[in-house]
Amino acid sequence: MSRRIVVTSGKGGVGKTTVTANLGLALARLGVGVVLVDADIGLNNLDVVMELESKVVYDLGDVLNSRCRLRQALIRDFRCDDLYLLPSSKICMDRITPMQFSSVISELASIFDYVLVDSPAGIDDGFHRAVLSCREALVVTTSHVSAVRDANTVMGLICAYEIAPVNIVVNRIRSDMVSRGVMMSPSDIAHLLKAPLIASLPDDDNISVNGVGDEISRSKTHKAYKNFALALSGTNSNNVRCENAKFNLFERIFGKRIK
Ligand SMILES: Nc1ncnc2c1ncn2[C@@H]1O[C@H](COP(=O)(O)OP(=O)(O)OP(=O)(O)O)[C@@H](O)[C@H]1O
Ligand SMILES: [Mg+2]
Repeated sequence: MSRRIVVTSGKGGVGKTTVTANLGLALARLGVGVVLVDADIGLNNLDVVMELESKVVYDLGDVLNSRCRLRQALIRDFRCDDLYLLPSSKICMDRITPMQFSSVISELASIFDYVLVDSPAGIDDGFHRAVLSCREALVVTTSHVSAVRDANTVMGLICAYEIAPVNIVVNRIRSDMVSRGVMMSPSDIAHLLKAPLIASLPDDDNISVNGVGDEISRSKTHKAYKNFALALSGTNSNNVRCENAKFNLFERIFGKRIK
């Protein structure tokens, strides 16, 4: 069964979009079909982080306004054939209802093994729309006290939705500072938030310059994302498809005639 996972946070700027992009790539490299959905309507930048902005023809707004079919708006990643992006609308579309958004996510879930939804900053309508469309959540935080406090608020809000599991991702960890006791450790943060820690991701200047891509391969960040993808897929190992099944993703999106 397909997994719909919202990547969210309390505080803005803690790395949701970066995590969505890099986790999506790491999962797709395990051989599962992954689609990234930019739910940050109006302030979207997942396409830029993925370096796919020049390929955007149609977006979520076009799909919802029946200007194109869903599959026409999907962009295949140039690094991995099993990774796709559904760009967000460039214009602010507050009128996208949670039901409309959820129906798009459901359709994607019928095609892909993983649907990762990059939630916008804040806890208003955009957050509600993103969380309502998913079954699982990754709550991203840094070790900064205000980020942890806001993550705690979001954990409380998520309780009201039918979301499980909710896992914690601690981003921008400086192991030297954790060892010196000047930065909270990821496990301490997860303990405070009373939820399982699924990934600790290092602070990495390369990621802040490149966002996603092979420039970060061989780095500890690359390893951390690979472990993250394995941990996430391991929580439901049936979702890692065999090679033969993998072959069908392109067919599932575009139909058998276009291979
Ligand atoms: N592990 C990391 N190491 C260094 N820089 C990082 C790391 N993760 C993210 N960043 C940088 O932090 C900034 C914010 O990241 P990002 O845009 O992913 O956050 P966000 O939570 O999606 O923000 P918003 O709430 O505005 O949507 C970016 O410049 C990004 O490159
Ligand atoms: Mg973002």
